[in-house]
Amino acid sequence: MSTLFKDMLSSDESVFKNEDALDFDYIPKLMPFRETQQSYVAACIAPLLQGRNGKNLFISGAPGIGKTAAVRWVLRDLEEETDEVVPIYINCWQKNTTYKIMLEICDQLGYKFTHNKKTEELFAVIKDILNKKAAVFVFDEIDKIQDFDFLYTIMEEIYKKSIILITNFKEWMAELDQRIKSRLTPEPLQFRQYNPAETDKILRKRIDYAFVPGVWEDSALRLISKKTSDIKDIRSGLYLLRQSGLAAEDRSSRKIGEGHAKVALEKLDEFTIKGSDQLEDETKFILDLVKQKSGSRIGDLHRMYLQKGGHSSYKSFRRKITKLEESKFITLERVTDKTGNTSIVKYNNVKKLTDF
Ligand SMILES: Nc1ncnc2c1ncn2[C@@H]1O[C@H](COP(=O)(O)OP(=O)(O)OP(=O)(O)O)[C@@H](O)[C@H]1O
Ligand SMILES: [Mg+2]
Repeated sequence: MSTLFKDMLSSDESVFKNEDALDFDYIPKLMPFRETQQSYVAACIAPLLQGRNGKNLFISGAPGIGKTAAVRWVLRDLEEETDEVVPIYINCWQKNTTYKIMLEICDQLGYKFTHNKKTEELFAVIKDILNKKAAVFVFDEIDKIQDFDFLYTIMEEIYKKSIILITNFKEWMAELDQRIKSRLTPEPLQFRQYNPAETDKILRKRIDYAFVPGVWEDSALRLISKKTSDIKDIRSGLYLLRQSGLAAEDRSSRKIGEGHAKVALEKLDEFTIKGSDQLEDETKFILDLVKQKSGSRIGDLHRMYLQKGGHSSYKSFRRKITKLEESKFITLERVTDKTGNTSIVKYNNVKKLTDF
């Protein structure tokens, strides 16, 4: 045996039992505290199982609180139950145009001859397959989409379906084209954040899946649990659990103690991920506006802000914009145009843990 590896933990001594259970896209067997939401999603889909049309849903809520996981959980359940309702899940951050979405749906339906086909041709294939059955379409991170043709087409031409839209931004729906809104008429479903006790329970459950029994010292777990409750994002909790485990292994420890948890906490801070949900409401309101109107002049933005019910003067609005720029939520581009000197305000896609 090589001396280099002699002193290191051999794999059967790992603190992890199943490290994959800490992946952000891992769907756990049970999702405590989300049963109500899952039943609601299922109820919207249920008519499809009886050959009727389904309902549409608009899901909103802060980052890292189980929106994606809860919906995917229901889709998985549906898939095990029937072949007659086809689940389609698309993340619009990755697939942000109608063409990319049509390609992706073809891919999920197992249709391979997409090369050189135009958007309409791809949709003809999709329509042909799905109109023999029923379908559930989930468009996650819908606020990242660049055009809405796909939504319009699906609403008009797929007979039996449920369309589920997911976003962090509750106000997003209001901005949607009336033509689409009046056809979609989705049921709103809001996810609320977990309280500290719920957060703790979710993390402990995940530890059971991911770690060898008994490796976690309770004081270490309490540190992680507390931090996760403060950030209100389960995803950071999973990150911290994994990093603590890795820190323990680095030091060839069979136990995960406070020291290892602290290493993990420092790592999290290094990322300086600021969840936009941590901003105060007023600033969040302004950020949402910038997001929807990215590329606008600052003066125009302030006008829109007032129209939407904002109260701050231009001066204090401008101060908040500068603060958002400093924390890298947005960028300001100084330009000179016919109105004189002004700034163009652009939204920065806030980095999420999933980007690392
Ligand atoms: N109730 C729960 N039980 C078990 N795990 C959960 C629960 N809620 C969230 N999680 C886990 O937390 C992680 C983040 O959840 P998810 O990806 O669904 O967040 P999200 O609400 O979609 O966030 P975003 O808006 O940033 O996309 C996932 O790994 C998920 O499995
Ligand atoms: Mg999500």
